[in-house]
Amino acid sequence: MKTTTATFKNYKSKGEKITMLTAYDYSTASLADSAGIDAILVGDSLGMVMLGYENTLSVTMEDMIHHSAAVARGAKNSLVVTDMPFMSYQTSVYDAVVNAGRLVKEGYADAVKLEGGVKFKEHIRAIVDASIPVMGHIGMTPQSVNAFGGFKVQGKSAEDAKRVIEDAKAVEDAGAFAVVLECVPSALAAYITEILSIPTIGIGAGKDCDGQVLVYQDMLGMYSDFTPKFVKKFGNVGESMKDSFKRYCEEVKSGAFPSKEHTFKIDEDVMRIVRGDR
Ligand code: KIV
Repeated sequence: MKTTTATFKNYKSKGEKITMLTAYDYSTASLADSAGIDAILVGDSLGMVMLGYENTLSVTMEDMIHHSAAVARGAKNSLVVTDMPFMSYQTSVYDAVVNAGRLVKEGYADAVKLEGGVKFKEHIRAIVDASIPVMGHIGMTPQSVNAFGGFKVQGKSAEDAKRVIEDAKAVEDAGAFAVVLECVPSALAAYITEILSIPTIGIGAGKDCDGQVLVYQDMLGMYSDFTPKFVKKFGNVGESMKDSFKRYCEEVKSGAFPSKEHTFKIDEDVMRIVRGDR
């Protein structure tokens, strides 16, 4: 059955954890979907893990639409949530609605995600009013990396923790159906999870959130440029890919691949005609 925003609500009320992973292409989305992942995030992290940028700031609407549409084709049951890239909503409420609409119409997203709390309350409300479900994202918001002075845990001081709580409440008041809490202390995330009626999805926010999200390349050991403390490796797919690539090189060089079983046959009489043999 297709996951919807109502499923998220239902899971929170039952205390059932929500599973979310990123994906950026059709085949990975199909695998995640068939594994029973509740929601797939087409994150703007694609700028780093797929496109090799240092951060997410260069990601465009065209990048997001292209990857979102591919994911949507592979996600039969998982809810597809697509990130609004840097400067696609910060500029105005109007831009926020128009660009959220493009992610749905051209990227086939079921919902959009945007970073920020109090400052973007009106933007979230306007998108929700246009009948597009919104997932909030607060705490360490990667699009503000330059304003934060790096990827740093947020909400450690009382003042900072209160700011994160105000952001969480603003996102809920604006009508978001869920909120990502990134890199906040676990006790603060647990408190926010308790006081909000919408589900919290944690990444580096401890076990008491209503759900968890990870970047799939991180959890499969496929991206080594930067591994945050909160990442657990559930596989070593990077090593396995490297081994397979090496074996392929060796077998092509040695002539062991392709062997007969991977080769098509043609009748020798046909070849005689092709060669013009007498
Ligand atoms: O872009 C992304 O992958 C994200 C997650 C880190 C939550 O926003």
